[in-house]
Amino acid sequence: MSHEIRTPLNAIYGFTELLNKTLLNENQKEMVNIIKTSVEILMGIINDILDISKIESGKIKIDNYPFNFEETIYGIRELFCKRALEKNLKLKFNLDKKLPKIIKGDKVRISQILINLIGNSIKFTEKGNIVVSLDFVSEDENKICIKFSVKDTGIGIENEKLETIFERFEQASRDTTRKYGGTGLGLSICKSLVELQGGKINVESTSGSVSSFYFTLFFDKLNENEIFKILEDEMKEKKNEKLSNLTEKENFNNNLKMITN
Ligand SMILES: Nc1ncnc2c1ncn2[C@@H]1O[C@H](COP(=O)(O)OP(=O)(O)O)[C@@H](O)[C@H]1O
Ligand SMILES: [Mg+2]
Repeated sequence: MSHEIRTPLNAIYGFTELLNKTLLNENQKEMVNIIKTSVEILMGIINDILDISKIESGKIKIDNYPFNFEETIYGIRELFCKRALEKNLKLKFNLDKKLPKIIKGDKVRISQILINLIGNSIKFTEKGNIVVSLDFVSEDENKICIKFSVKDTGIGIENEKLETIFERFEQASRDTTRKYGGTGLGLSICKSLVELQGGKINVESTSGSVSSFYFTLFFDKLNENEIFKILEDEMKEKKNEKLSNLTEKENFNNNLKMITN
């Protein structure tokens, strides 16, 4: 089912981007941007609903592959830099030096949780800062424990809402959707994804001033040889990517020509 919904949405999104690159008057530009924003919102909601139904039917499997942890975190930072800047917010990432570059786990699901939490922090903060911290907790021969936290100086959450916000379609107040948008699904997805990886997510907050969401997870450690091999593979991949990016750019330009001609 997901494919049938995502494909047409991706097509609408892709073509609004291409349309934006053609000669448009101000009025038309504004209309195209409204279509683009609406599709973005719709894609977000549909992705959340598809994830919820996948979680409910027990179809989400947690991967356990080596991945570049440091790079993944910096990739996420990149994703939010612009949005934070637009709202004049300071977005800080503290990556504990004791953490290894490469760990074994589910890169996509860890990113998804952090993206949800950071997205919320930016959405619910009007001034101040957002601090994302990745801290070393403990390790033994085979496992390393990492604490993830996202803190902000936003609107905060009332005490009695701290439990319910992790439930489906729950928001801290009735006017949240009107003021900030959203459906109240993000945190419920985060909670399930953290639990599927054997952790627990918590929140501490003072209404009107700060919120801090945090969770800890255990990851399998890799030995030096394995790490070296992965870094080497990554280098090779990056070289290939550079080459294919060039062809992608050419394809894009050709598409553009076809549309503008
Ligand atoms: N960083 C935050 N600061 C203040 N309130 C928050 C924050 N994160 C989540 N919330 C509250 O928890 C609710 C649920 O979050 P979420 O499930 O992500 O839903 P949505 O973002 O779609 O509203 C939000 O509607 C909001 O009321
Ligand atoms: Mg959210």
